[in-house]
Amino acid sequence: MSLPWYILGCGAMGSLHAAQLDRAGESVIMLPRSTPPGGGPLQLEICGLSTSRHALPWQAPEASAPIDRLLVLTKAYDVAAAIGSVARRLTPQSQVVLMANGMGYAEEIAARLPGLSLAFGTSTQGAHRTVDGKVHHAGLGSTRVGMPGVIDAPAWFSPLGQALPDCEWEADISMALWQKLAVNCAINPLTSLHNCRNGELARDPHLAQKVRDVCGEIAEVAEAAGQVLPDLESRVFSVIDATADNRSSMLQDVSRGQRTEIDYINGYLVRQARQLAVPAPLNEALWHAVRDLTAP
Ligand code: PAF
Repeated sequence: MSLPWYILGCGAMGSLHAAQLDRAGESVIMLPRSTPPGGGPLQLEICGLSTSRHALPWQAPEASAPIDRLLVLTKAYDVAAAIGSVARRLTPQSQVVLMANGMGYAEEIAARLPGLSLAFGTSTQGAHRTVDGKVHHAGLGSTRVGMPGVIDAPAWFSPLGQALPDCEWEADISMALWQKLAVNCAINPLTSLHNCRNGELARDPHLAQKVRDVCGEIAEVAEAAGQVLPDLESRVFSVIDATADNRSSMLQDVSRGQRTEIDYINGYLVRQARQLAVPAPLNEALWHAVRDLTAP
């Protein structure tokens, strides 16, 4: 039996990944922010593409058992604080896998907890909570995990790679993260501002042009940062196609009146652009427009 996977972030995506690891026979321990009602195991019901029930053990983040494998599926703005809540349980041997949308939180973690071994994951799987509390698995998607500069998959990756659908080690994770950032910079704010499903961004010529313009700005910022992104536009449109029926995570946040991840998506891109003195007016406009949508 391999070491247990601890899961930070018990929302739809955290629950989906926990269920997929559990189904593959891995030991999974949830780290909910508050005590689950009834105090017993956390009950998860996954429906949609895959249907299964899971009763998973949980621990309070402040428990004392050391954490060797930590999968983080919180919102981008919660990543650093969530890891901070289990910091005392992390050791030099701990492996942390960050799977949140966006970029910029790794720098926050490095400032608070220098020396932590961080891996990064990007996923196009889709999930959301239904009104009756189940997790709806909406898009199969693929997952890529990697660590900057690490070409071959380390041993800890093997159970994760087997448990998640189409999950592979990515030798060039920086490129994959920039590509995912571009996907989120284009799809998330535009679907939120136009209150539409992802597929509408390819069907409506005006929105499709905006997607192309966002991609153009990102490619220029990435290149100035030393990262070439080949075929960016077609990659973003193929994600739009594959997730055509999805309501993006940002549109879901906006509909619920919740904070969005915009500061870690277009906001991160604009901060990079400013540092590199590259203009990014469209991303800047999207950043502010989405912030205005959810301003108190
Ligand atoms: O944030 C999201 O919704 C997803 O990352 C993606 C891939 C844009 C699909 O909706």
